[in-house]
Amino acid sequence: MAKEYTYRDSHKYAEKGAEYEAYYETQAWQRFLWSREREVILRILEKYLAGRDIHLLDFACGTGRITSLLEDRVRTSTGVDVSRSMLAIAREKLRRTEIIETDITSENVLRGRKFNLITAFRFFLNAEPELRLAVIKTLAGLLAEDGYLVFNNHRNFGSPWIRWSYMRRRQKNLQGTYNVMTIGEMKTLVENAGLEIIEIYPVGFFHPPRIQVPRTLVNAIENTGCKFKCLARFSESPIAVCGWAKAPQQFDPV
Ligand SMILES: C[S@@+](CC[C@H](N)C(=O)[O-])C[C@H]1O[C@@H](n2cnc3c(N)ncnc32)[C@H](O)[C@@H]1O
Repeated sequence: MAKEYTYRDSHKYAEKGAEYEAYYETQAWQRFLWSREREVILRILEKYLAGRDIHLLDFACGTGRITSLLEDRVRTSTGVDVSRSMLAIAREKLRRTEIIETDITSENVLRGRKFNLITAFRFFLNAEPELRLAVIKTLAGLLAEDGYLVFNNHRNFGSPWIRWSYMRRRQKNLQGTYNVMTIGEMKTLVENAGLEIIEIYPVGFFHPPRIQVPRTLVNAIENTGCKFKCLARFSESPIAVCGWAKAPQQFDPV
């Protein structure tokens, strides 16, 4: 019988770490989004955690993209991932981070520890529903009472570009998965674990088409769009800040 697909295995092959790193080095739009994400993440740190000792867990840290931005800004830094090849790159970059190759949904080696900042980037969109649920519940179990979970949805269906790309692929019957996620699905996801989205930051308004578009134009659109948080629902890769829900909700901790 064929092994059932799970996103857990998607980044495990030997070349994946180097491929992922090259993707961010060579793709102009990804580099641009990353520069925006950096700004937003640092703004979140300033707004929610200024003056506090931060204990960071970067879930699905991969090559250490997010962890490397944060490790010198926090008291303790922990990164977990299931892919050895992704973590090999992370190990080259990170100096102060405890890096653990593990799947905390099946063997929670962090049980009993609490983190006041948990990040999970470029993970939930592509994870299958069971894995999403297992992860959000496990992360909630590790989140301090006064902590924040910060995650992104890198293909927000509310973005006109993503919606167009999705429709085009369907019309043309293109092969390969192209997952999309709505802001509503982001909210439901965290509510499953007793959390709520406090704020959503827009990232990525104008995905430039293949033709050359002046960088100044892209920046101008981005800067204008990002002034209005209400526009987050139209951005390509919004970032959500979550905390414990005010009204107690029913959920089964793992
Ligand atoms: C697209 S990468 C994102 C890496 C990093 N967070 C970033 O934004 O650059 C997704 C990562 O999720 C990891 N992953 C998948 N299932 C996982 C699980 N159950 N536990 C931990 N990591 C997992 C993969 O190995 C991969 O490194």
